[in-house]
Amino acid sequence: MLLSAAILENPLKQGVRGQKRLYFSAVSAQTMAMTNIDQSSAGKPSIFVTRRWPADAEAALSQYFVPTFNLDDRPLSAAEMAAGFASHDAIAPTVSDKIGADIITAGANGKGRLIANFGVGVNHIDLDAAATAGIAVSNTPGVLTDATADLALTLILMLSRRAGEGERELRAGEWQGWRPTHLMGRALQGKTLGIIGMGRIGKAVAQRAALGFGMKIVFYNRSRIDEISAYPARQLDDVESVCQIADCLSLHCAASADTFHILNAERLAMMRPDAYVINTARGDVIDETALAAALSAKKLGGAGLDVFQGEPVIDPALLAAPNTVLLPHLGSATIETRTAMGLKVVENARAFFAGQPLIDPV
Ligand code: DGY
Repeated sequence: MLLSAAILENPLKQGVRGQKRLYFSAVSAQTMAMTNIDQSSAGKPSIFVTRRWPADAEAALSQYFVPTFNLDDRPLSAAEMAAGFASHDAIAPTVSDKIGADIITAGANGKGRLIANFGVGVNHIDLDAAATAGIAVSNTPGVLTDATADLALTLILMLSRRAGEGERELRAGEWQGWRPTHLMGRALQGKTLGIIGMGRIGKAVAQRAALGFGMKIVFYNRSRIDEISAYPARQLDDVESVCQIADCLSLHCAASADTFHILNAERLAMMRPDAYVINTARGDVIDETALAAALSAKKLGGAGLDVFQGEPVIDPALLAAPNTVLLPHLGSATIETRTAMGLKVVENARAFFAGQPLIDPV
């Protein structure tokens, strides 16, 4: 028997303006109809929110919708999300939820009409299944550009200045005091940053690196980019050319069939032996096995990764590889950005249920 969702009202939690919000409890049971919805919620579309959001974003959502929140903030099963989508007008998933054809079909056969993704990347959603089922999809571009670019620079700096190693050494009680040759890193000034995917985030990283740290920029992008004037940046014709000359290679392409393992063993082998690889895009864009092998064989200088193929499970070979900085998908994790992402979901869902075009259609 499929596990189905229990939608329980939590009387202790009240939405803004005294409206009740619904909470999804960890208790698993037979699907229960939502009952006891306030009169104030009459006429408002319902939305199933798979993970907790910052308080202001949940409050904004509650103002215009009848939301069901995942009170325990635990990963939901596909069956739970299918039941949630089928019993609500919309679902608001995020990158850690795999929204496959099963969930989409269940939603479409029930009440579901919109997938309002909390996040910009949509590789976790079966877009073909959504199109076939006539389910609209929106995302949250723009608002996480700066936060993600800042995190890419964090990784670049942590690697080049050996900050992860230094912190681990100090905490382990192994620091033997200042000395001229201790944990020497490398300067960024004058070094070449290669960018794969010169969209919003790629450009924001390039701008920071060029204007803030004096790096030279080269990049690969599928289409021609000609509007960069604030700093010198050179578009190269192929990924290989960027790999060959970059001191640091940062990936900013969307995950798709075309970009799957765009950084593979062959391209890694073209890189300088002291080069760094930075990934704040999606785990799928790098062949992690090949990356771990290149690091272990000292054919690369290091890797700073915020995203992983099987996250939250990390390939043990990567954990064991030398000179890595590994972060738990923190790219957009500022209170300002996560709130703005929630507000974007609200804007899109409001437009959709008002019969207007989505602001950020996918
Ligand atoms: C996104 O929005 O795609 C991010 O990876 C989540 O922070």
